[in-house]
Amino acid sequence: MASFTKASVENLKNQVNIVDVVGRAVKLKRAGSYFKGLCPFHNEKTPSFTVSDTRQYFTCFGCGARGDVIEFMMRYYNLGFGEAVEKLAEEYGVKLERRSGYRDQNLKEYYDVNQMAARYFYRAFTGGPNPGYSYMKGREITPRILKKFGIGYADREWDSLYRYLKSNGVRDEIMLELGLVSRSRGKIHDRFRNRVMFPIINTNGKVIGFGGRALEKDARAKYLNSPESKVFLKKNNLYGLNLSRQAAGKEGFLILVEGYMDAISLYQSGVENVSASLGTALTENQARLLHRYTNDVVLSYDADAAGRKAALRGIEILKAEQVRVRVLHVTDGKDPDEYVKVHGKEGFLELIDGALPYADYKLDSAKRHFDLASSEGRVGYLKEAARIIAS
Ligand code: GTP
Ligand code: MN
Repeated sequence: MASFTKASVENLKNQVNIVDVVGRAVKLKRAGSYFKGLCPFHNEKTPSFTVSDTRQYFTCFGCGARGDVIEFMMRYYNLGFGEAVEKLAEEYGVKLERRSGYRDQNLKEYYDVNQMAARYFYRAFTGGPNPGYSYMKGREITPRILKKFGIGYADREWDSLYRYLKSNGVRDEIMLELGLVSRSRGKIHDRFRNRVMFPIINTNGKVIGFGGRALEKDARAKYLNSPESKVFLKKNNLYGLNLSRQAAGKEGFLILVEGYMDAISLYQSGVENVSASLGTALTENQARLLHRYTNDVVLSYDADAAGRKAALRGIEILKAEQVRVRVLHVTDGKDPDEYVKVHGKEGFLELIDGALPYADYKLDSAKRHFDLASSEGRVGYLKEAARIIAS
């Protein structure tokens, strides 16, 4: 969160004019009561991007991007809220008041400890031969992408991260609360062991948690995630959005997948507008979060029963947030990762072209519940179809 008082941020917004701020980045032309230009957040040839002087607000009728001057800074320069505020204040010589509240101080410590852990895992991953690196190499992820996503390795020992953090002065309570370690029979030990580590980074660039993929087949869980904590609320975040939000703006849509590896694999293939929903079904807060960057989503979940159910639920959540939804399930291979490895970026883009708009998808799903060979089945389906179309 930003570390400036609300009042000083309000003051900043009153001091700067959005037309001037946007005007430095985008060529604007006056058109009546507002200004018009080519949208910087998606590709277009005719201007559908407007800036209102009176409302101090920008809106793109092409891609749906919209917001105030701070939102513009965040998106255009790819900054977190606090960073955007700071940059703007500096450029316009406006004074900000820092918030020295207990809560902010408190959270900073949590973010810092997660960051230390992420660095520790990263060094273990890149510092010399280890099972984590071999595994990711086996999955054909390149060093450039591994670095970009900050992939790490948690070794086999019982307490190597614990000892490292402790020697750096981190208190047990913090490590426990972040779920980096756990306590059993009075002893503290690392929670992630012998796993490939995926740091989960929010759109402010903070490490808020981890996903860890087991390297042993018989591990308790294939994927182990950080527990919810003060800084990690699963329902508020999407994996990879820190990297994909700009591409989502440029391409005009975002692809949502189920898994960490699906997101990384698509990103590597050149499909960079992709995020993963952290295992759980899409939530309202996640929909609101992604709506800040796009108003068009392609759901690309696994073709199994769970994936289909998640897609139907996702449709409702996204429609309620007024986001356009299309759905695709890969046919060749069990998930987007496997598909894109075989068919490449072009192949995946072709699938997107064929993705079903949500109403068609729902009709298609409904069909599965009826026996269309019988007349009762057909009547049932028609009733259901009428209901879907009406909605
Ligand atoms: P890979 O083998 O790594 O490609 O995974 P997968 O393609 O088999 O992924 P799967 O469909 O099993 O899981 C997709 C996503 O669901 C993962 O990225 C996790 O976010 C989540 N997930 C899978 N297994 C578990 C689990 O055991 N625990 C938790 N918490 N999440 C899981
Ligand atoms: Mn997979």
